[in-house]
Amino acid sequence: MIQDTVNFNREDWLFLEISVHFRGFLMESSVYTIASALVIRVNIRVMKPLRILLIAVASSALTGWAADIPTIQINAAQVVGKVSPTLYGLMTEEINFSYEGGLYAELIRNRSFKANPTNAVFWNTIGPASISLDSTVPLNDALNVSLRLEATQSSPAGIANGGYWGIAVRPKMKYHLSFYAKAANGFSGALTATIQSADGKTIFATVKIPRITGDWQKYEATLKTKNVAPSKDNQFTLTTTSPGTIWLQEVSLFPPTYHNRPNGNRPDIMQLLADMNPKFLRLPGGNYLEGDYINTRFDWKKTIGDISERPGHESPWNYWSTDGLGLLEYCEWCEDLHMEPLLAVYAGYSLRHDYIKPGPDLNPFVQDALDEIEYITGDTSTKWGAQRAKDGHPMAFPLHYIEVGNEDEFDRSGSYDGRFTQFFDGIKAKYPQLQVIATAKVTSRTPDFMDEHLYPESEGSMEARAHEFDNRPRTGPKTFVGEWATRVGSPTPNMAGALGDAAWMCGMERNSDLVLLESYAPLFVNVSDLARGGSMQWRSDLIGYDALTSYGSPSYYAQQMFSTHHGDVILATDSQNIPTYTWRPPARRSRNGVQQPRPSPRELPSLYFNATRDSVSGTIFVKVVNHNGSPQPVKIEISGVASVKAKGEAVVMKAGNPSDTNSIEEPKKIIPVTEKVKDLGAAFMREFPPYSITILELKAK
Ligand code: AHR
Repeated sequence: MIQDTVNFNREDWLFLEISVHFRGFLMESSVYTIASALVIRVNIRVMKPLRILLIAVASSALTGWAADIPTIQINAAQVVGKVSPTLYGLMTEEINFSYEGGLYAELIRNRSFKANPTNAVFWNTIGPASISLDSTVPLNDALNVSLRLEATQSSPAGIANGGYWGIAVRPKMKYHLSFYAKAANGFSGALTATIQSADGKTIFATVKIPRITGDWQKYEATLKTKNVAPSKDNQFTLTTTSPGTIWLQEVSLFPPTYHNRPNGNRPDIMQLLADMNPKFLRLPGGNYLEGDYINTRFDWKKTIGDISERPGHESPWNYWSTDGLGLLEYCEWCEDLHMEPLLAVYAGYSLRHDYIKPGPDLNPFVQDALDEIEYITGDTSTKWGAQRAKDGHPMAFPLHYIEVGNEDEFDRSGSYDGRFTQFFDGIKAKYPQLQVIATAKVTSRTPDFMDEHLYPESEGSMEARAHEFDNRPRTGPKTFVGEWATRVGSPTPNMAGALGDAAWMCGMERNSDLVLLESYAPLFVNVSDLARGGSMQWRSDLIGYDALTSYGSPSYYAQQMFSTHHGDVILATDSQNIPTYTWRPPARRSRNGVQQPRPSPRELPSLYFNATRDSVSGTIFVKVVNHNGSPQPVKIEISGVASVKAKGEAVVMKAGNPSDTNSIEEPKKIIPVTEKVKDLGAAFMREFPPYSITILELKAK
C-alpha cells in the first residue's frame, strides 16, 4: 500500500490544506494522520494515488485549476441496462484476400485454373513444357476447364505455383497434396511434387506419384519438411521426366489446419480470432454477399459439397473465389470458435444495381434463403439438413439472426421495402423465432434490428459520434452495428485508429441494451502486395498477414480488450471537468464541382469512459480512453458499494505516438499489458498515460 516517501515543505502545507476539501474522497486513515501532522515539517509516507492527488491539488493551488480535476463518478447501485452478452462479434467477407491467401489454408493460387478465362494465371512452366487452358477435357460441370501440360523432352518439365505471395515452409510440417489428373495416350510416366525455394535451389519436401492413368482420377500424397527454418519465398512444383500430355485440375496443397479440419483454416489467424472471444460471425458479407451482378452473388448452393464440385465465382473485390471456404466451412469456423453464424441472405439486389422486383420473381430467392436456413439449422430429416449431414456435419448449428441483404440504401430503385417485406414474411412464417435484420429503412414491416455501418476517416470523426446512442429512443428495432472502423492507418489501423475505436466502443457498450451486436470491418488483409495494390482492396483492416505470419493491429487489441473485459450490467456514470480538444473536421467533398465550406472546428472530449459490472462476482470494469498526448490524472469515485478492494488490475494499451502501429516486422509493438494496481478504493486518483486505453478491474462488494 505504502509506496513512496514524500518530503513536505511550506508549499506542501498549502496543498494539503486544500486537500482537506476532498475529505469525502480521502478516505484512508493515513490521510488523517498526514493532516494532523501538518503543523510540523515531517517526512511522511503517502499512498501513490493520494500523492497524485496532492500533486494535482498542489499545482492547482498554484495555478488555479483545483476545481477542474476531471472526475468520473460511478454509481454501482444504479444499473441502467444489461450488457449485451452477444455484443462483440466478427464480420467477414472475401476482400483483401481474406480467405484465398488468408484464413483458408489452401496454399495453391488458382488451383482450379478458373481465375482467368484465357490464361493459366499464377502458374509457370518448368523445363521443356508448355501449358494451356483446355475446356475440351473438363473434370466436371463445375470445374469445366483443365490445365493441359505438354512435356516435350525427358528432362524435368512441368508447372510451378508461387502461392499467394509465397508458400509457407515450416520445420517438420506435413502438407497434404491432392490433384486430379488424366494422361493422354502415350504418357506413362510418374510425377514428382516438391515444395522448393522460389529460385529452385533448395528442395524442402518431395514426393513421387508413380503413374497417371488415362481417366480422370484423384491423386493424394504427403509432403514432409525436415527441420528447416521457416520461410515463405517458396513455390510448389509438379514435374515429369516423361514426354507426353496430361490434364490437371484442382491442384491443392494444405498445411495442417486449425483443429485439423480437412479443407480448413490457418491456425495462426484462427488463434488471433479465438483470442477475441467473439460471439457471432456476420457472413458472408458485405458486398461479397451481393456480388457485382445477380449471377456473381454469393450463391450458397454452389459453395457446398466436395470442393471439386464447386464452380467458384468472381468476387466484387476483383479476384476469383474458389468457394473452398463455403457455407459449411463458415459454420464450422463458427463452431471452432464457439460463436454463432449471423447469416446475411441474398435479397435480390447486387452492387451494380441489378435487382429483382418484389413479387413472384423474388419468390425463388426467398425460397433459397429458407433453404439456406434449413441447411444450417434443419435436422437430418429435412432436405437441406440431410444435405448438410451428407456434406459431413450431421449436427445442426445454432442460428438466431438473419440479415436481409447488405447496405440496401444503395438500391436506388426503392425496391428494398417490398423485397424486405417478402423475405421478412417468408422467414417469420417458417422460423418465427429468428430475429430479422434490415439494412435500410423500411416502413411496411418492423424489423427486429437495423444494421448501421460507419467508416470515419479520423479518430476525431469517430469520437464525435461516441455519444451517439446515449439519447436514442429505446422503442423500435434494436441496433446492429454490422460494419464500422476508424480508418486511420494502412494496411492496418494505428493507435489513433484504436483510440477512435475505443471511444466508439465505450459508447456502444454503454448502450448495449440498444446496440446488441457489433462487428468491426473489414477483418483481414493480406499485406504482401501493397505497393501494387494487389493484396488489398480496402485499407484499415483489423488483422494483417503474409504467407507465413500474422499480427493484430492496435485496433484488434482494442477489440480484444473490450470483448474480454466487461460485466453483465451497465452502471450509471457521471463526470465533471472532462477535458476537451479542438477537432478540425476535414473539408467536405466538393459537390457538382462546387467546393463545400469547411465545417467549423469543434470541441470534443479527450476522455471517453464507461463502467460495467459483473453482477455475480461484483467486479467493476472501468474503461477509460485518453485521446491526448499528455498524462491525464483523473479522480474516480464509486458510490453504491460497501467497499472497493485496494488491489485490482489494469489492462493498459498505450503508444508514444498516435501513428505507432503493428506490422509483420513488429507484430507486438502496441499490445495491452496487464498490471497489478494497488491503492484503489471507493475514491482514488489515477493517471492515464498519453494515447492510452485502460480497463480497470475493481473488486467491489
Ligand atoms: O467492409 C468493406 C465494405 O464496406 C463492405 O463490403 C460493404 O458492406 C461496405 O460498404
